[in-house]
Amino acid sequence: YKRVTVKSLVDMKQLGEKISMLTAYDYSMAKIVDAANVDVILVGDSASNVMAGHETTLPITLDQMIYHASSVIRGVYRALVVVDIPFGSYQSDPKEALRSAIRIMKESGAHAVKLEGGVEIKESIKRILNAGIPVMGHLGLTPQSIYKFGTYTVRAKEEEEARKLKQDALLLEKYGCFAIVLEKIPAKLAKEVAESLTIPVIGIGAGNGVDGQVLVFHDLLGITQEFNPRFLRRYMNLYEDMGKAISQYVQDVKDKDFPNDEEQY
Ligand code: KIV
Ligand code: NA
Repeated sequence: YKRVTVKSLVDMKQLGEKISMLTAYDYSMAKIVDAANVDVILVGDSASNVMAGHETTLPITLDQMIYHASSVIRGVYRALVVVDIPFGSYQSDPKEALRSAIRIMKESGAHAVKLEGGVEIKESIKRILNAGIPVMGHLGLTPQSIYKFGTYTVRAKEEEEARKLKQDALLLEKYGCFAIVLEKIPAKLAKEVAESLTIPVIGIGAGNGVDGQVLVFHDLLGITQEFNPRFLRRYMNLYEDMGKAISQYVQDVKDKDFPNDEEQY
């Protein structure tokens, strides 16, 4: 396989080839995602929700993110692997941000990090980039700020927030970020941002006018059930299918059907 790099993503934008991105949190999942030719694998702090069962992304720790990331890395041959720096590991000061980014790179072998925010985290982004670590930005609905927003509804519908988002996107490109995620904002605004930048814009709930799409693994496969935003396209209903398979196993054990004569020594 030819490895996906931060450079090839910018090339893809120039060529008009859309970028596919999907989350993964462990070795076995990552292997499947990578073999399916997903361009970018995100070890998202959504692990806090779908892997650990927390209500928000806030509780997951840097050590836990590094555990997920190092597991993912062992299953990946082609994709670019980006890791979320979790809440509380970069907001205090730029040195803490760099320390966290370095730990992720060294201890997991990942290829890049992602941080939520714009101008507020300018110094941290610059410091991480100065150390040679590629940074992906994340604007719009930034789940680490959920208690500030108070709701998971669409962001930047009002003029003022939209203007700040456009400004932040331009700044992130200027600082040297290699790509930006835009989460849950109007499609028209996301398209405008994508067209104003040379770096790729990856959307989730941000319409079709951007340079690529990202989804959470469990949502795409229908492992999560209760989460039903308009932007989500489910490609399977694994919650149901896995449930059926496991119930069948239980039944087979109870019925003394499993194991049969061929399934023993
Ligand atoms: O943590 C995550 O899964 C994310 C994506 C939804 C962009 O940040
Ligand atoms: Na995230």
